[in-house]
This record gives sequence, structure tokens and C-alpha cells, in this order.
Amino acid sequence: MVRRRIGILTSGGDCPGLNCAIRAVVSHAMLTHDWEVVGIPYGTKGLLERQILPLNLENLSVHGIDSLLSVGGTILGSINRGDTLERADEIIAGYQYLGLDGLIVTGGDGSLAILRQLARQGNWKLVSLPKTIDNDVALTERSIGFDTTVNTITEALNRLTFTAASHDRVMVVEVMGRSARHLALHSGIAGGADIILIPEIPYSIAAICAKISELRQARGRMFAILVVAEGVTTEEGKPSTYIDSLGQERLRGISQYIAEQVSHGSNNSLETRVTILGHVQRGGLPSALDRIVATALGKTAVDLLAEDKHDRMVAWQNGQPTSVPLEEVLQRSPILVNPRGYLVQTAQSLGIYVGELQQELSIASDRSLIIN
Ligand code: F6P
Repeated sequence: MVRRRIGILTSGGDCPGLNCAIRAVVSHAMLTHDWEVVGIPYGTKGLLERQILPLNLENLSVHGIDSLLSVGGTILGSINRGDTLERADEIIAGYQYLGLDGLIVTGGDGSLAILRQLARQGNWKLVSLPKTIDNDVALTERSIGFDTTVNTITEALNRLTFTAASHDRVMVVEVMGRSARHLALHSGIAGGADIILIPEIPYSIAAICAKISELRQARGRMFAILVVAEGVTTEEGKPSTYIDSLGQERLRGISQYIAEQVSHGSNNSLETRVTILGHVQRGGLPSALDRIVATALGKTAVDLLAEDKHDRMVAWQNGQPTSVPLEEVLQRSPILVNPRGYLVQTAQSLGIYVGELQQELSIASDRSLIIN
């Protein structure tokens, strides 16, 4: 019998935990099924260029494959650009050329949509795993990378608290999340923020200044920690963006606007400082939870291929892996924060300012499995 050969690729932005998923796929595929596993470098670029990285239990470092548990990023490399479909035919042919009998991919909703399109055109056996620090992929409670990033931001907030308290300053901390803002809400609560701004809920600078003054007068707390999601807009609704070296518009800088407005709004009585955490949020060693989730998801992806099930995404629901149709995931993503959910309510009941809830934007929160 011909030995089955499966590929694995990582697509979109990197995040901690991807290597744990790769390790799980390689280990389970080889130990349980005696399949050959090849890595496809740099996502679809590897298929286009017919590149492979043979993966086995020994060759990954002197410590063997288990060392991948504690390595951030992705050993396969990844690209985070949307130009893949321009050479779709060549990419599609790469699957056959490399002799693949199945392909396991990791991605957020953007890359999974592209990969699904390629897979359907090329008749690939595709199984996907959700990964994104933004945690906005539908039908899964967790995406690989989210937990580590929440921990990274939480630690940063703790560090900033000491210096904020020493100088009686307002620290404005900008965090990633693109169109979804789970990172700001989760880490703001975990890191002891006084104010959390997310685009799903409008805010007012006057109310932020009032909150800080209340902290000072009522609680004698002379500093404040304000977490703002990068997708928050100005009070007039304008996003803060810049054009990157490839000409793409990217979110950054709303923290500077908020800091300036808070200073002005307090007649310069409040001293503000800005920290944009940037890609620090995507680096680092995966947390234990991300390792566990990524390992279980990777193992389940191999199970699906073994059962000849594809065009599916392995999802994390009710604390364990399961699988759902990829089409359904893509129809529902991205999942935003529910302004009426338990986490916003929790923040509010602790006295955290989360915006003007009575003016909350209407969102289709019922599309989500996640009610945070
Ligand atoms: O989607 C993940 C993410 O980290 C976003 O939170 C962020 O806005 C974006 O990717 C940054 O992308 P890049 O690494 O391409 O600058």
C-alpha cells in the first residue's frame, strides 16, 4: 500500500501555539497512521513554488519534535497578504504536484476563506484549524494564539501600573484585534484596567475624564490604566490608520488621539502617556492553554483526514475539540464582542468604564457561540 502523504501549512499572521499544532499533527499522523507529513513553507507560496519541508519526529532540532512546544511563531513561515488568488491555478496544481492526500491549514477567517476557495477548485482534502490572536473566528470558543496574547497584554498592563502609580499618570495602552476587540476586553479585565474602549461601544472623552476624576476623589487612586482597541475611532467616528510599505491601510495610533483628548478634556491636569504594544503581542512562548488547545486541535485534524472528512474546521466547543463545516464558519465570521454579554457586564460591575452602553452599536451577537 502506498504511504499516505499529507501537508501542513500556516497561513495569515503568525501567533504563539502554531508549532504545537504542527507537532501534534506530525506526531499523531506518524505514530498512529504511519503517514508522511510535509510542511509547506510560507503558506500558499510554498504550493506555488513547489517547496516542502519534510517533518518527522527527529529532524526538527537536537531535542526532537517536542521542542516545538515552546517555540513561538511558526517554523513553516507564513505570509499575511491577500494577493494569493492572482496565481490560483498554479497554487492549486501545487497540491497534486507535491502528491498530497490531504492538507491541514491554520488560519483566521481571511486566509481560511481563500484556502477554501482554492480547495474547492482543486478538489483538495482540506481540514482547517482556527488561529488568530483576535479570537474572532465563528463557531469556536478559542482560536490558537488568543490566550497567550491575553496573557502578554495582561503582563504589560501590570508592568505599566507600577510606573503609572509612581507618577500619577494616565497610561493609554493600544492593543491589537483588528475588527474584533476581545483582546482589549479580556486583558483589560485581567490586567486591572480602569477604562476599556472597544469599537462596539461608543465612548465620550468627557465621561473618561469624569471616571478618572472619580477614581482620584472617591478612591484616592491618582493614576489610571486605559486600554484601547486599535479599531476604536475618534469621537467623530474616524479610524486611526497609516499606510504600510506595501501600500495597505493599517490600524494604528488611536491611543495618541485618546491621550491628547483626555489631557485637553482635563484642562491639562491629567498627564498621559501612550504605549502601543504592537507585535510584542504576537511574540513569545505559547501559554499552557494555547499548547493544550493547539495540540488537541491538531490531533483532531488528523482524525478527520483519517475518517475522510474534509472541508471542515476543527473547533473548540465546551472545552473540547469538535468539527464544523468550514462554509458555516466563514458565513458567520468575524465574531465581535457582545455589548450585552457577561464580560462587559462584569467590567461594568467592577466600576470599569466601558463606554456609553445605552448607545451601543447594534451587532448580530446572536450569530456567536461566544457570549462575552
Ligand atoms: O489579525 C491578527 C493581527 O495581529 C491583528 O490584530 C493586527 O491588526 C494585524 O494582525 C497586524 O497584521 P500584520 O502583522 O500584518 O501587521
